[in-house]
Amino acid sequence: MRLSRIPSIEIKTPGQLALMREAGLVVARMLRATAASAEPGISTAELDAIAEREMKMAGARSSFKGYHGYPATICTSVNDEIVHGIPSERVRLAAGDVLSIDAGAIVGGWHGDAAITVPVGAVPAQVTALLRACELATWHGLAAAVAGRRLTDISHAIQSSSLAGGGYGVVREYTGHFIGSAMHMDPAVPNYGRPGRGPVLADGMALAIEPMLVLGDPHTRLLEDDWTVVTADGSPAAHFEHTVAITADGPWVLTAEDGGRADLPSSPRTLSLTSAVGSIRSARGRHDGRRSEPDPRL
Ligand code: MF3
Ligand code: CO
Repeated sequence: MRLSRIPSIEIKTPGQLALMREAGLVVARMLRATAASAEPGISTAELDAIAEREMKMAGARSSFKGYHGYPATICTSVNDEIVHGIPSERVRLAAGDVLSIDAGAIVGGWHGDAAITVPVGAVPAQVTALLRACELATWHGLAAAVAGRRLTDISHAIQSSSLAGGGYGVVREYTGHFIGSAMHMDPAVPNYGRPGRGPVLADGMALAIEPMLVLGDPHTRLLEDDWTVVTADGSPAAHFEHTVAITADGPWVLTAEDGGRADLPSSPRTLSLTSAVGSIRSARGRHDGRRSEPDPRL
């Protein structure tokens, strides 16, 4: 019997977060390579092959392939497809499309999960604005991933940003999630709702924050393939996602190449240097295979 309503959330050690960072950087490379190739004429199956090659070159495994029978390395969702579109030789991109690319990778048993939505050729201005608003909402959510705050502070930050950005429809039927030794871990991370509820966030937790915004009505429909989620009204959708760790020195965006430095608003809160900060920082320096990440906020 369940004694508590509060789900126990996996707390990662600095070493485990370092592996999640490696997975996150693999995901970032998978997204960069596929986004760079998302030109008119290419099929989404070809994009899947590009992502798989990047992943294998890095020695990582797919979080997606085989997950409840999912058949590919990435999800490719075009136009009114919101999430979980299956790459296919029959789907060729055309100028004016918007494409969500979602990728996941496992390094040493630890997962990273991220998504971006990119325009193919020129798209209408209101679609460009939708993409911007969704990316901005993601970063507002990431910025709220701070120890001591509550889970729905993230949800509320995403929703407020989405509404402020022009009143976009916020999809409610799919959510973000916690992540770590598995891709999807409880509890869910809704992209809407009142602040100040849910579990208190703590150092060592990691979440995948993934708003889905639409130009029209946010209700969804599942296609016959049992994966592809589309807008019920056929309006175009945007989807962005990052995996973020909660650390003593603020959100660490594991799937952003710079750890989130450029896009997180610089924090007005006072930061105290603790030994945990030191260990996380040295874990970053050790495992990034790039320069360590001095925090301009300190
Ligand atoms: N980022 C997506 C999600 O969290 C990944 C889905 S993977 C799939 O829902 F295998 F289920 F497609
Ligand atoms: Co996800």
